[in-house]
Amino acid sequence: MPDDIDELQRKVEEAAAKIETPQDLQRFKEEFLSRKRGIIPGLFKKIPTLPPQERSSFGKRINELRELAESLFKKAEERLKGNLWRERLRKAIPDPTLPGYFKPLGSVHPISEVSHTIEEIFLRMGYDIEDGPEVEMEYFNFDALNIPPHHPARQEQDTFFVGGGYLLRTHTSPVQIRAMRKRKPPIRIIVPGRVYRRDEADPTHTPMFYQIEGLVVDRGISFAHLKATLETFLKALFGEETGVRFRPSYFPFTEPSAEVDISCPVCGGKDPNCSVCGGAGWIEILGAGMVHPEVLRAGGIDPEEYSGFAFGLGVDRISMLKRGLTDIRNHYWNRMDFLEQMK
Ligand code: PHE
Repeated sequence: MPDDIDELQRKVEEAAAKIETPQDLQRFKEEFLSRKRGIIPGLFKKIPTLPPQERSSFGKRINELRELAESLFKKAEERLKGNLWRERLRKAIPDPTLPGYFKPLGSVHPISEVSHTIEEIFLRMGYDIEDGPEVEMEYFNFDALNIPPHHPARQEQDTFFVGGGYLLRTHTSPVQIRAMRKRKPPIRIIVPGRVYRRDEADPTHTPMFYQIEGLVVDRGISFAHLKATLETFLKALFGEETGVRFRPSYFPFTEPSAEVDISCPVCGGKDPNCSVCGGAGWIEILGAGMVHPEVLRAGGIDPEEYSGFAFGLGVDRISMLKRGLTDIRNHYWNRMDFLEQMK
């Protein structure tokens, strides 16, 4: 019998050394220590069948064996726990030799960037920034701006009519009226915002684009103020060397009206084949004029006492010019490769 026990002890020791997983551990327990089926507890049941003089030494021997098996079990259990911890630590400790993770940084959209640049120039000249609704009353978009009912801009195919006397504004000019009704002269504001026209998208048109409106109303405001203001602004935006030219034009809400050109920022008028100015040397950049007396009246301002000037420019167009873009739709495709280059 003692030989059998020695043999069993070796088996226990070998089995304990081979424990690698929680399943191995469980199997070891069941094989050797389980009360019901375990080999060692089974040996205790043999004691009453032995001759009385052998019982005590046999009992002692298997007690030792059981203690050994239990302590081997505990050690294996500790070892497995330790492995688990080491595994967790290995996963948790950062490896400083690995390359880092980079979160791509966003940047201001090119349209916003140009808009902010323009806003800053006017803020330095003492202007306030005004805002108005994109879903606008027909009355503010047209009638109050002296645009008569038969005007072609009022036709349904030229804008998006929402119904109930509302439309998506076709320009930022309606905010002139809103601002005049809200503020008292002197008024010096610019109004950046989205406008809508029912245009097919092509390299020079999108059905939504950005404008910045300007309005100044005070006593004694003349065309000279308009000219000096726009010259100062355009030189600040495109560079001191930029030429500025006023051409007579027509808008229902200004009188007299002008279209304003700048000398071509790409060729300066020197390249007859210039892709930007087509050799003309000048590029139309905005519309402007003295606020029409009817418009002042619609804004609740007495045209006998006050006068003013207004202008409107297209932000997208200026962005194209400043960045040398040939397709306005680049602004709205949300392509990362384009936006990254515009940073
Ligand atoms: N609202 C005009 C347009 O959208 C621009 C403009 C504004 C012209 C103010 C004169 C004065 O074309």
